[in-house]
Amino acid sequence: MKEAKYIWMDGELVPWQEAKVHVLTHTLHYGNAVFEGTRAYQTTDGLAIFRLEEHCRRLYNSAKIVAIEPNLDYETVKQAHIELLRVNEFSENVYIRPLIYLGYGVMGLYHKHAPVQTMIAAWEWGAYLGEEGLENGIKCCTSSITRNPNRSTFGKAKAAANYLNSQMAKYEAIENGFEEALMLDENGFIAEGTGECVFVVRDGVLISPPNDNSLESITQSTILEIARDMGIPIERRNITRDEIYIADEVFLTGTAAEVTPVNSLDHRVIGNGRRGPVTENLQSAYFDAVHGRDEKYRHYLTFI
Ligand SMILES: Cc1ncc(COP(=O)(O)O)c(C=O)c1O
Repeated sequence: MKEAKYIWMDGELVPWQEAKVHVLTHTLHYGNAVFEGTRAYQTTDGLAIFRLEEHCRRLYNSAKIVAIEPNLDYETVKQAHIELLRVNEFSENVYIRPLIYLGYGVMGLYHKHAPVQTMIAAWEWGAYLGEEGLENGIKCCTSSITRNPNRSTFGKAKAAANYLNSQMAKYEAIENGFEEALMLDENGFIAEGTGECVFVVRDGVLISPPNDNSLESITQSTILEIARDMGIPIERRNITRDEIYIADEVFLTGTAAEVTPVNSLDHRVIGNGRRGPVTENLQSAYFDAVHGRDEKYRHYLTFI
């Protein structure tokens, strides 16, 4: 991990190495915290955060869902993203991680008396699934782990506790020689990747499952908007793992994963095993949008 100069903690800019918490921090023990993964890209007009507003809104919605009352207001935290990127003087693309968590002071499961704290870290970070993956695609497996079911967890929240599931699925995938896992929902339909949404292309139609069993993804909504603007037919419906085997193209989307093609699932080669033309067009349009090269999507950029 590439360290930066400062981390923002409850209104203070703290040197990276000094940004610490107590070992009895409530979140560390019981897992209740909410976070975001946001990216900022270098543009011809300098560094710009992509869809900051939407990421901050989801952060505050996540907090509401898991009954955390943020200690700072929305506008303060939004502005802090900008301040942090200014003081760190980044020269590459950046990943931003705000976290609202429960601090030190009380133990036990009842969390309402634990102090709420907010931090934002940012660091230079390249392609999450590798540059090679962006071009040639990645090998996926269907996970043995079911995506967190709606009956017992809150899938609309980007909550830290939800990620034990994703972490175990990712671990299993990597240890078995794959690069990413697709998790099924309770009914056996494709839910999402461990940190990505899933898209399939069949006969020129772009298909992505509804968000009943996936995070309401900001990248997914960007890709759907770009696809609509390109005139690509779109369907939001359930897909099964065998439909992926016989799809023309499959790709994953996420702030970290950006637009990453999938070249095989469970050892079945998808299409011709390379990045397909629809994926390539959408990927290149996405990179144009985030890098400020397409006027149409410039309103999504917050310049630093
Ligand atoms: C489980 C999960 N699904 C989907 C996504 C994609 O969401 P977004 O495009 O908003 O980053 C993420 C990443 O945040 C995720 O962690």
